[in-house]
Amino acid sequence: TSEVARMKNLNVIEMGQYQVEPWYFSPYPLEYAHTPILYICEFCLCFYANKTQYTRHRSKCTLQHPPGNEIYRKDDLSFFEIDGRRQKTYCRNLCLLSKCFLDHKTLYYDVDPFLFYIMTQRDERGCHIIGYFSKEKESSDNYNLACILTLPQYQRMGFGRSLMQFSYELSKAEGKVGSPEKPLSDLGLLSYRTYWSEVLVDMLVGFDGEISIDELSHMTSFTVQDIMHALFSLDAIRYYHGQHCIVLSERVMEAHERFKKKKHRKIDPSCLKWVPKV
Ligand code: COA
Ligand code: NA
Repeated sequence: TSEVARMKNLNVIEMGQYQVEPWYFSPYPLEYAHTPILYICEFCLCFYANKTQYTRHRSKCTLQHPPGNEIYRKDDLSFFEIDGRRQKTYCRNLCLLSKCFLDHKTLYYDVDPFLFYIMTQRDERGCHIIGYFSKEKESSDNYNLACILTLPQYQRMGFGRSLMQFSYELSKAEGKVGSPEKPLSDLGLLSYRTYWSEVLVDMLVGFDGEISIDELSHMTSFTVQDIMHALFSLDAIRYYHGQHCIVLSERVMEAHERFKKKKHRKIDPSCLKWVPKV
C-alpha cells in the first residue's frame, strides 16, 4: 500500500451518544472512509456511511451486549468473552475500530487465534462497550494480552487499569505469569508502567521482612522482567551491604497516598466466572 493510502482516512466516528475523531488510519472499505461521519452501532460494531442507513439498522439491531458469554459482572461493569473464530464479523469490526487509535501495530485481521474480552458498562438500554483487550488462545511467549484499548471517550478514567487488572486475574486463574505483547505503544507502556508500579507499591507498603522478586511475581502474575522494569522506573532498587533491596522513596510514598485517595474501581476476582480452557 502506498503512503497516501495509509493517511488518516476517517473524519469523525459517531458511536452511541459520542462523536470521536480517529487518531490513525484504519482500513475501512473505501466507500466508508472520507465520509463526514462514520456511524458505528455500539452493540454490533457494524458501520454505516450515512445516518439514514444507520437509523434503519438501529431499528432492527437487537443486540444489547457484545455477542459472547458474560464472564464477569459487578455493579454496572461486565466482561464478555468472545471467540474470534465464532464471531468473525464482530471481532473484525472491533479490530477496524481499534486501528483508529493504534499506530504501531500490525493488527491481526485474522481474528481466529484470539479471544476478545470486552468491558461494558450497563444502563437501561444495554451493555455499552468501554474498551477491550485481545489475547492469543495460545501464546508461545507467555503473552497474556495482545491489544488493549479504552475508547477515547472513556480514557483517563481508570478503565485501562481495570482492563489490565482483568488480564492478570485471568493469568492468576491459569496459574501463569503473563505480559503484554511487545512492542507496546507509548500510551500502552505508560499505562502498564503506572499499573505495575501501583500494584507493587501497594503490596510492599507495610510489608516488613524479606520478599523475593519471584515471590512478587507469583503473587501478581507479573513477569520478573516487568517487575524489575517497574521497580527501576521507581528508582526503588538499591544495593546495600552486598545485596539488593527495594527502597520506596518519599516521592513514591506520596504518589501512593495520592493514588489511594482516588478510589479506583477494582476488579473483584470473586465475581469472575471463568475457568481456563485446557
Ligand atoms: N498521558 C499521561 N499518562 C497517561 C495517559 C496519558 N494520555 N494515559 C494513561 N496514562 C497513565 C496515567 O498514569 C494513568 O493514571 P492517572 O490517570 O491516574 O494519572 C494510568 O496510565 C492509567 O490510566 P487509565 O485511565 O486507567 O487508562 P486508559 O483507560 O486511558 O487506557 C490505554 C490506557 C493505553 C488503554 C489507552 O490510552 C488507549 O486505549 N490507547 C490507545 C491504544 C493503545 O495504544 N493501546 C496499547 C497498545 S496495544
Ligand atoms: Na497484561
